[in-house]
Amino acid sequence: MTEPFDFDCMADRSLDHARKWDPKIMEQKYPGTPEGFIPMWIADMDFPAAPAIREALARVAENGAYGYGYAHDGFYDAVMSWQRRRHNNEVKRDWITLAYGTVPTMHYLYQAFCQPNDCVILFTPVYDPFGYAAHNNGFRTISCPLVVRDGVYQIDYDLFEEQMERYRPRVHLFCSPHNPSGRIWSLEEIERVADICRRYGCLFVVDEVHCEHIISGEFHSALQLPERYYDNLIVLTSPNKGFNLGGLKTSYSIIPDANVRSRFRHRLEMNSITSPNTFGCAAIIAAYTECDEWLDAITAYLAESYRYLADFIDREMDGWKLMPMQASYLPWVDISGTGATATELTCHMAREAGVVVGDGTYYVGDGANYVRLNLGTPRALVVEAMERMRDHPYRA
Ligand SMILES: Cc1ncc(COP(=O)(O)O)c(C=O)c1O
Repeated sequence: MTEPFDFDCMADRSLDHARKWDPKIMEQKYPGTPEGFIPMWIADMDFPAAPAIREALARVAENGAYGYGYAHDGFYDAVMSWQRRRHNNEVKRDWITLAYGTVPTMHYLYQAFCQPNDCVILFTPVYDPFGYAAHNNGFRTISCPLVVRDGVYQIDYDLFEEQMERYRPRVHLFCSPHNPSGRIWSLEEIERVADICRRYGCLFVVDEVHCEHIISGEFHSALQLPERYYDNLIVLTSPNKGFNLGGLKTSYSIIPDANVRSRFRHRLEMNSITSPNTFGCAAIIAAYTECDEWLDAITAYLAESYRYLADFIDREMDGWKLMPMQASYLPWVDISGTGATATELTCHMAREAGVVVGDGTYYVGDGANYVRLNLGTPRALVVEAMERMRDHPYRA
């Protein structure tokens, strides 16, 4: 137990109808998954949310008024204070725009900045909505594969620039910290990417959703870049990973440039993305003003689970190679040494070990040798999942 919070206890995930734990969804995805399976796929956590968030939501629920609201000063003040306190970012109130989740925002963003026949460019592998948000709207994606060097992902700047020249993509959606892998990019790396985007007139959009759980190293927001990059920059973020609030569908963007902002806001208005979800707004304010201690405690707990996992994989899992994870709770493992593809290993573990991992092919590009795990659950379950997988090795 991490005092004063008990992360060894789970919330009842049947009450929020969690996709992660649903046997029917599992049966469709991986027929033959036994009862009592342990899910390590979809990226949410099984712990109850921070006490201050639950109290804020209970107050709203008890009050009984759920009518139309607006993004009030409390929301903007909470975001500005959080960004300053936790990330050293001086964000102006005008730069902030509320939205209904980072993933829906990606869709609006592509709609706002791409025309028919335009394409977007992505470093791959990457979180799958980066790609399907483009495809759903009729835009092509160009994949610039990350390169594994010294055991971690590196950016191939020469290829990136070559592709910029050849395809002239409208938008580069950059994942920082990176999902899947949990890599934190240095400010120099972010600046090199921002510089190439700027030179080729490609909008630089940075998803910083995974910046709240820092396991090792130091996170640098793209808002730390010199101001000359500000006229080509959008940052997307939300408290949804840090505080496990994905179901409340509340997020925001930070856009320093007035022209970029107004083009983006126009698209939100076309779709009536205006007033906030009453509960989402209350939760984000509580998270950003009263929950620093909870976040630090959960991060310490996740870091401890990660250390356990790294050691276990090293000692017990033949053919598994963990990529060092600096942020998030979603370790990325190269399983090519087992002789299985990611899909074969995922199906095998679901059926034989009763553990559902994330198949690496699910992400945009270049994940066929990887599976993603999820440490956002009490450690006893992580231990049981790993022991089950060790006891059911894949055999070709
Ligand atoms: C990189 C990244 N962006 C966004 C999201 C989802 O964010 P939201 O809940 O704000 O839509 C996730 C969820 O896993 C993610 O990994």
